[in-house]
Amino acid sequence: MPDIVRVITYPDPFLRRSASDVEEVDNNIRQAVEKMLVTMYTNKGVGLAAPQVGLGRRIVVVNASGEKADEKILINPTIVERRGAMEGEEGCLSFPGVAGVVRRSAHIVILAYDIEGKEIELPATDFASRVLQHEIDHLEGMLFVDRMTPESRVLAREALKALEESYGQAPAEYEGRH
Ligand code: CO
Repeated sequence: MPDIVRVITYPDPFLRRSASDVEEVDNNIRQAVEKMLVTMYTNKGVGLAAPQVGLGRRIVVVNASGEKADEKILINPTIVERRGAMEGEEGCLSFPGVAGVVRRSAHIVILAYDIEGKEIELPATDFASRVLQHEIDHLEGMLFVDRMTPESRVLAREALKALEESYGQAPAEYEGRH
């Protein structure tokens, strides 16, 4: 049985909390990153932020293509440069059934630490840039629905309401179990 962590879903208030810096990349952090990677790949996500698995630390994992070579682990990431703008559709593992158009910077540069604790500078454009901005937003408690275009927000309203109404109830697959 793989060690899969449950993804916290909207409207869980934990998603609104700001994450704190990782002070040292130790075994606990490496284990957390491993769990995040398994969770991201199992759920076929392109990115995951630590608060989505209940960990209030500044860690994101992304893989925009699904190829192992494109996997990125970013600890304490900050966006230090932004250029241009683009609009495109986004979803989120914490918002099953919700999608919408979000405006983002086209080009960004990120400073972060890697899993070895080494400082890295990462430029990103296009889809990779979008995924990284989405994940880094999670670290501030900012969610993609906050940035949706007004048109998309109207279209997403029903799906959001459904998530709010089912919040706190047992997931369907657990019904009837003891
Ligand atoms: Co997300």
